[in-house]
Amino acid sequence: MPDLIRLATVVGARPQFIKAAVVSRVLGRTDGICEDLIHTGQHYDPEMSAVFFGELEIPAPRFNLDIGSGSHAVQTGRMMEALERAFLELRPSGVLLYGDTNSTLAGALAAAKLGLRIAHVEAGLRSFNRSMPEEINRIVADHVADLLFPPTDRAERQLRAEGLGERRIVPVGDVMYDASLHAAGRDAAARAEPLARFGLQPGGYLLVTIHRAENTDAPERLEVILGALAILGAELPVVLPLHPRTQAAIDKLPSGLPQTGVRAISPLGYFDMQSLEGAARAIVTDSGGVQKEAFWHGVPCVTVRGETEWTELIEAGWNRLAPADSVERLVGAVRDAMSTGPLEQPSLYGDGRAGEHIVAALRGWA
Ligand code: UD1
Ligand code: UDP
Repeated sequence: MPDLIRLATVVGARPQFIKAAVVSRVLGRTDGICEDLIHTGQHYDPEMSAVFFGELEIPAPRFNLDIGSGSHAVQTGRMMEALERAFLELRPSGVLLYGDTNSTLAGALAAAKLGLRIAHVEAGLRSFNRSMPEEINRIVADHVADLLFPPTDRAERQLRAEGLGERRIVPVGDVMYDASLHAAGRDAAARAEPLARFGLQPGGYLLVTIHRAENTDAPERLEVILGALAILGAELPVVLPLHPRTQAAIDKLPSGLPQTGVRAISPLGYFDMQSLEGAARAIVTDSGGVQKEAFWHGVPCVTVRGETEWTELIEAGWNRLAPADSVERLVGAVRDAMSTGPLEQPSLYGDGRAGEHIVAALRGWA
C-alpha cells in the first residue's frame, strides 16, 4: 500500500473558499490523499465565510485560527504563529495554498521555514504594481513553492521568466472556471430565482463590486466611483453587493451612497452572485475573480484599476481598464462596455478540470 498523502490546505478569504471547494470536491472522491483545511479567519462575517462552506459543501476546517482583521504585519504575523503550530501538529506531506492574500503569504512563509513542500494554485500572476499588497504576497508564495499551478499560458511564461523553471510547473487551467461550470450546471429555476428575489430584469442592470485597498482607502477615489455610479444609476439600476471594507469606507464619506439608482446589498453567496453576474447588462469591478466570471458569462466588464493580472481579457475585448481618477472616464468606459457588440469567446482558462489536474499532480507527493 502506498503511503497516504496528508495535505494541509490554508484558506482564509472569500475567493479562497471558492477555489478550495473545487479541489476539495475532487479530493473527496480520491483515494490515497486526505486533506485537512486550516481556516485562518481572515474573513469571518457569515456572508464572507460560512455561506461558502455551506453552499459549496466544503469540509469543516480541522483548525479555525480566528485571526481576524489587522494591519498587514499584525495579521500576517499572527497567522504565521498559529499556522506553525497547526503544521507541527498535523505534520503534513505538503501544504496547499491559493491565490495572493495575507493568508497565502503567512502559509507560504510558515511552511517554507518548516521545510514543508508547498503547492501554489494560481501561480505566476503579476500586476507589476508592487504597491498592491497582493503582488508581494503572490511573488513570495511563488518563490518558496515547489509545485506551481499557473492558470494561464502567460502566467506559466512569467514563472519561467523569473527563473522558476527548475521547479515543477504544471499548467492546469483556472479552478475558478471549474467553479463557474459547477454553478452553471444547476437547474434553470435555481439560477433564475435570485433575479426575481432582487426584482431585477435580465440585461436590465449593472452589477458592481469594489473592495481593493487602492479604491476603498482613498476617499477621493471612492467618491469618483460613487459619482460615476450615480450618473449611471439614472440610466439603469446599479446593484452593489458591498464588501465590509467598502461599507466601512462609504460610512466615513460625508456624501455617503448616491440617493437614487444605486442599490447597496449585503455580500452575496456564490450561487446568487453567479446568477446576478450572468444576467447583468455589464459588470463593473476591481475584483480579480469577477473579471473572469464576467467573461465566462459573456457579460462585458469594466475593471476599476490601472492594470490587471488578467490581460488576455483586455486583449480579447471583454474587459477594459478605468482607474478611479475620473468620473467621465469611468462612465465612458461603462457606456462603451454596454454597447459592445458580439465578441468571440476564446478558450483561455483550461478545460474546466483544473481541480482534477491539480489532484493528479499532488499524487507526486506520495
Ligand atoms: C482580502 C485580500 C484581497 C482579496 C480579498 C477578497 C489581502 C491583503 N487582501 O482583502 O487580495 O481580493 O480579501 O475579498 O489579503 N472585514 C470585515 N469582515 C470580514 C472580513 C473583513 O468586516 O469578514 C473588514 C475589516 O474591517 C477588515 C477589512 O474588511 O479590516 C479588510 O479585510 P482584509 O481581509 O484585511 O482585506 P480584504 O480587503 O478583504
Ligand atoms: N463573490 C461572491 N459574493 C459577492 C462578491 C463576490 O460570491 O458578494 C465571489 C465572486 O463571484 C468570485 C469571488 O467572490 O467568485 C471573488 O472574490 P473577491 O472579489 O472577494 O476577491 P478577488 O477575486 O478580487 O481576490
